[in-house]
Amino acid sequence: MTARINTRKTIAALVLAMLTAAGWAWASGTPTNKGAAEIVLEGGTSGSVAFPHQRHQEKLTDCNICHAAFPQKTGSIEELKAQGKLAKKQIMNEQCTKCHKEKRQAGEKAGPTTCTTCHVKQ
Ligand code: HEC
Ligand code: HEC
Ligand code: HEC
Repeated sequence: MTARINTRKTIAALVLAMLTAAGWAWASGTPTNKGAAEIVLEGGTSGSVAFPHQRHQEKLTDCNICHAAFPQKTGSIEELKAQGKLAKKQIMNEQCTKCHKEKRQAGEKAGPTTCTTCHVKQ
C-alpha cells in the first residue's frame, strides 16, 4: 500500500522535474546571449571608451559586422591585441571610427569621430 503511494509520488515528481527542465531549456536556451547593454573598452593611454553595445545591435542587426574580427567574449579585443592577432587601434580605426565617418558622410546619424568624445581619462 505505502509502496504504491510512494511509486505514484515518485512518478509525479519525475514528470514535474522533466517538465521543469524542458521549460527551462525552452526559456533560456533558445535566445542568443546578446551580452551587456553597455560595455567599457580599454583605450590605453588615451583612457577608456564607453560603448553602447545594445544600441549598436539594434541599429546594425548583423553581429558579424563587428564580431567577425573578435569573438563574443568580454576582453577578447585586448586578448587578441596581446597575442599580436589584432594591432593596437585596429578595431578603433577599421570599425568604430571608419563606420562613424561613413555614416556621417552619408548624412546619417553616427557616433563620435574625435579622440576625446570616445576616450575619457580617469
Ligand atoms: C558595433 C560592434 C558590435 C556589434 C554590431 C555587436 N557587438 Fe557584441 N561586442 C562588441 C564589443 C566591442 C564587445 C566587447 C569586446 C571586448 O570586451 O573586448 C562585445 C562583446 C560581446 C559579448 C561579450 C560581452 C558580454 O557582455 O557578455 C557578447 C555575448 C556579444 N558581444 C554578443 C553580440 C551579439 C549577439 C550581437 C548581435 C546581436 C553583437 N554582439 C553585436 C561589439 C559589437
Ligand atoms: C569611435 C571611438 C573612438 C575614437 C573617435 C577614437 N578612439 Fe582610440 N580607441 C577606441 C577603441 C574602441 C579602442 C580599443 C580598441 C583598439 O585598440 O582598436 C581604442 C584604442 C586606442 C588606444 C590604445 C591602443 C593600445 O592598444 O594601446 C589609443 C592610444 C587611442 N585609441 C588613441 C586615440 C586617439 C589619439 C584618437 C583621436 C585621433 C582616438 N583614439 C579616437 C575608440 C576610439
Ligand atoms: C558599422 C557601423 C558602426 C560601428 C562598427 C561602430 N559604430 Fe558606433 N555608432 C554607429 C551608429 C550608426 C551610431 C548612431 C546610433 C544612433 O542612431 O543613435 C553610433 C553611435 C555611437 C556612439 C554614440 C551613442 C550616443 O549616445 O550618442 C558611441 C559612443 C559609439 N557609437 C561608439 C562606438 C565604438 C567605441 C565602436 C567600436 C567598438 C563603434 N561605435 C562601432 C555605427 C557604428
